[in-house]
Amino acid sequence: MSLNCKDLLGLEHLDKKDLQTILNAVKPFKSLFTRSVKKAPTLIGKTVVTLFYEPSTRTRNSFEIAAKRLSADVVNIAVSTSSVVKGESLIDTGKTLEAMKADYIIIRHSLAGAPNILARNLNASVINAGDGFHEHPTQGLLDLYTIYDKKKKIEGLKVLLVGDIVHSRVAKSNIWALTKMGAEVAVSGPPTLIPENIKDLGVKIYYDLDEAVKKADIVNILRIQLERQQENLFPSVHEYVELYQLTKERLSKAKPGVLIMHPGPMNRGIEISSEVADSPNAVINEQVTNGIAVRMAVLYLLKKRKNASSN
Ligand code: CP
Repeated sequence: MSLNCKDLLGLEHLDKKDLQTILNAVKPFKSLFTRSVKKAPTLIGKTVVTLFYEPSTRTRNSFEIAAKRLSADVVNIAVSTSSVVKGESLIDTGKTLEAMKADYIIIRHSLAGAPNILARNLNASVINAGDGFHEHPTQGLLDLYTIYDKKKKIEGLKVLLVGDIVHSRVAKSNIWALTKMGAEVAVSGPPTLIPENIKDLGVKIYYDLDEAVKKADIVNILRIQLERQQENLFPSVHEYVELYQLTKERLSKAKPGVLIMHPGPMNRGIEISSEVADSPNAVINEQVTNGIAVRMAVLYLLKKRKNASSN
């Protein structure tokens, strides 16, 4: 898989050149957002289907807005009211959508690899909108773009990811993208939520958040998945808050221009304090805006690749 593929299933197999191509493609789409008509004709006559087996606010709506701004016809499948509940398989659902002439299928699924299965069985382009603990490539790309937009570079920046790394597809996609682009990536969180072998990817581990925050140019806070507490992966929410919440006091020890990011949805008062989430250092709402432009760029590049292979 690479940018020469019909699908976007993850960032692991993209190289630096692919990532830079995507970053370069975003700005023209973002510049549309300040116009009274925010549309381009890129996907006119094409059909984009969103197929979400898990809840989403940002990603699903962001893809819908992106596809509509590219003039596509958009269909949203609510899995809970579809024939999936009658036992239809993923491949049969995909083939049904393809028989309806879907050109792009954007899928979120709790099983890692579900988008890959769909991609192997369909001619439509498949975009992974988050699969299990595996990857969330467009979140990784919008995080990468937000850093690039703000800092004007990626190489040499110190990016700290905080929280539940082991269960986070956002962390995985961020790590692939940032390390390929030459950033120095570190993670911080309780030992039970950090896989030791992450060091093999060139990522530093800090169990002490205060020490880690001081060195960072960017701090990306991950959502604490409260359901993990039932698995006893951290002793209590209270202890997590004490040790790993990004508070105003911790932020005061960071570099002055540090960027604070969060992929959302946020648990205010748990992994991040409201003061920090609303501070001038936070670029959380800009991440959301950039997400639309990044998804427009991804759809555009996949279409360009399809056109090239059909010529
Ligand atoms: N960041 C993210 O994936 O958010 P949603 O679950 O709302 O799509």
